Amino acid sequence: MQLPLIAVLNGPNLNMLGLRQPEIYGAATLDDVEALCAETAEALDLAIDFRQTNSEGELVTWVQDCRPAPGRPGAAAILINPAGLSHTSVALLDALLAAERPIVEVHLSNIHRREEFRHHSYVSRAAVGVICGLGIRGYALGLTALAEILLDGPDLRDAGRGAR
Ligand code: DQA
Repeated sequence: MQLPLIAVLNGPNLNMLGLRQPEIYGAATLDDVEALCAETAEALDLAIDFRQTNSEGELVTWVQDCRPAPGRPGAAAILINPAGLSHTSVALLDALLAAERPIVEVHLSNIHRREEFRHHSYVSRAAVGVICGLGIRGYALGLTALAEILLDGPDLRDAGRGAR
């Protein structure tokens, strides 16, 4: 049986986890995040494609690749930590809006307790839900939410939509 594939996409500087401002982001490395995602996905009967890039263009291309095309399976859903691009990138938002897949946005830190420029995320407009401030366990929670959304379909998918 083919398991639903979730693209787990990580933006700039997340390769520095563990070294980078551990008082904010914690001691876990990106390898630890990947191991947690793999373990969670296995328990949920999901497959993951876990990636990190420091390049905005590469991240946009990976999001585009989530739509299936001839010779490319695509992904059923996206879990994304857009990192600094959350606060700057209309191009990433546009790619996510075009993906037509359920998207959960995750941040390790609570962006609302931090500098004002981090309070707004362009990406949130494309996301069914946003998880922040729970450290690396936010990734496990995000995968769990996406598994439910994929199973339960449109109801949950629209639950976070609210008024526009
Ligand atoms: C982050 C929060 C962003 O504001 C920051 O630029 C990051 C990481 C987080 O996971 O808490 O790089 O997305």
